[in-house]
Amino acid sequence: MKILMIHGPNLNLLGTREPNVYGMETLESINERCVHLANELGIELSIYQTNSESEILDLIQRAPGSFDGIVINPGAFTHYSYAIRDALAAVKLPTVEVHLSNIQAREEFRRESVIAPVVSGQISGFGGDSYLLGIHALVGLIKNA
Ligand code: DQA
Repeated sequence: MKILMIHGPNLNLLGTREPNVYGMETLESINERCVHLANELGIELSIYQTNSESEILDLIQRAPGSFDGIVINPGAFTHYSYAIRDALAAVKLPTVEVHLSNIQAREEFRRESVIAPVVSGQISGFGGDSYLLGIHALVGLIKNA
């Protein structure tokens, strides 16, 4: 099983970015924990971080045939990128949307995800653990498909 993990804009700054909201853990540490989990589960994990919407679109568009599912934290694109929503709807791969913070408990504009209606499910509010929970959820979905 192959999983594509995409970290969107500003997530490269984790560790120093608003630690009161996103915690102290760096992206590198989250990725290490995800790779460790993937090894335990016997799955392949490819991880990308980009600040570019078009790169996220390219990654999603290229995923079918190479990956069985996607874990994505679209960052701020969550709230307004119809292009990412349309790409996910087009490729129809099982997809879990993850967020470090609980987006429902934050500013009004963060409470809406334009991505959520086209993905399999959303995990939000567990810091770096959201990604690990996302991997577990996605593997379960793919195995039961
Ligand atoms: C985020 C929440 C978004 O609102 C924000 O723009 C991010 C991170 C999260 O993981 O909590 O960049 O996706």
